[in-house]
Amino acid sequence: MSADQVIDEKKQGQALITLPKIGNAKKVYIESYGCQMNLNDSEIVASILSEQGFNTTFLMEEADLVLVNTCSIREKAEQTVRKRLEKYNAVKKINPKMKIGVLGCMAERLKEKFLEEEHMVDLVVGPDAYRDLPHLIEEIEAGRDAVNVLLSKEETYADIAPVRLNSNGVSAFVSITRGCDNMCTFCVVPFTRGRERSRDPESIIKEIRDLELQDFKEVTLLGQNVDSYLWYGGGLKKDFDKASPEAQAQAVDFADLLDRCALSFPKMRFRFSTSNPQDMQLKVIQTMANHENICNYIHLPVQSGSTTVLKRMNRQHTREEYLTLIDNIRRIIPDCAISQDMIAGFSGETEAEHQETLSLMDEVKYDFGFMFAYSERPGTPAEKRMADDVPEEIKKRRLNEIIAKQQEHSLLRMEQWVGKTMEVLIEGNSKKSDTHWMGRNSQNAVVVFPKTGAEQIGDFVVVKTHECTSATLLGVRV
Ligand code: SAH
Ligand code: F3S
Repeated sequence: MSADQVIDEKKQGQALITLPKIGNAKKVYIESYGCQMNLNDSEIVASILSEQGFNTTFLMEEADLVLVNTCSIREKAEQTVRKRLEKYNAVKKINPKMKIGVLGCMAERLKEKFLEEEHMVDLVVGPDAYRDLPHLIEEIEAGRDAVNVLLSKEETYADIAPVRLNSNGVSAFVSITRGCDNMCTFCVVPFTRGRERSRDPESIIKEIRDLELQDFKEVTLLGQNVDSYLWYGGGLKKDFDKASPEAQAQAVDFADLLDRCALSFPKMRFRFSTSNPQDMQLKVIQTMANHENICNYIHLPVQSGSTTVLKRMNRQHTREEYLTLIDNIRRIIPDCAISQDMIAGFSGETEAEHQETLSLMDEVKYDFGFMFAYSERPGTPAEKRMADDVPEEIKKRRLNEIIAKQQEHSLLRMEQWVGKTMEVLIEGNSKKSDTHWMGRNSQNAVVVFPKTGAEQIGDFVVVKTHECTSATLLGVRV
């Protein structure tokens, strides 16, 4: 999942805490790394474990079970997890009854290797196997190592209500698809999260209704590639053509789902992430325009501004097609914010191709961006067929040029909001001062303003801005 969906930096590695269940005697300590879907999955795991006698704890030292939900997207993400495993093992020396488990993408990628080579863990569970946790835990409690890394064609955890106590109580994430069928050559996700499947819209609506009852005000629909959402009674996206004519006729696509969410919950704000440009239909943009409560913000990762690089990445669009999509968005929703993900220094990237990325950025002038140096991942098509041949210092220099350009554009975009009034959903105190609130406008820009005493977290208020930095708008309530 994309950077917009990356767990808030403050929450990376933070212990997940949920309401204790009376009578539960065992303690589980859960940390999550990587994308927002990992955090959501951890909430599902906590929900399953709460039925197995476990309450969550933020004290690793007192845990019977330590779980780490892991990310494989870049080498650095895996290094972070390895360091944490060393830390858990140091604690285990003091508390030998403690068991350690690895969940998520690294578990899926390394499988039994974790047990064979590392001797650092007792339990290895892939992203589609969390329902098997009760049985796997019995195994490790009996002193045996346990592994389940089977990927599923159906699993969407549709019926398991995630617990959400680390959240701000205002905005929540709801998973609508799992897996990815796209096979971008640099990406490990199709291997660690399996084939793409969509979740039953009824269960999505039910989850949002529960969130509304708990007073949540904003929902972000989550998936590796949300625009490719397609429900036709269950089954993989790739098997849609084989479904019965009736099932095909009643299919719900992403625009239908958005429409239904917006109509069913008129007071709730909706966002979604992530959109792959190749799957984003005009119908989705029109649906956004039709509903006040769908935010005017699209995270539209492009990875590169060069058609030849896009081709090597197996992205199914050219630079020109991407720019046409941007034109369509701006035509239908003139004040829509757009953000990017970029990869600097992919296999064979020439200086001229890098310049095309910079010139694409100049054309689009993204509101936000999430930028990475290419990190070759074992088992991906790029690792198998292409050389990781851009020297590290060149990758770094290109990345810095991309970041510098994005900062310029972010500032430019923010400046366009100065002097305007906008609706802001209050998420909490400003980072810098308890006398100020922090919230976001529809375009996902952070807005900070002084408290007046007449508003609280979760309120929608109207703010007039008078100043900005490249990351924050400053204003006052009107
Ligand atoms: N479709 C997903 C993408 C998941 S990865 C989603 O957006 O939800 C998030 C971002 O990480 C990608 O958009 C890409 O910019 C970056 N990324 C993925 N694989 C990478 C790699 N091997 N090296 C560097 N960056 C990578
Ligand atoms: Fe990865 Fe491309 Fe899917 S970036 S998650 S393979 S859309």
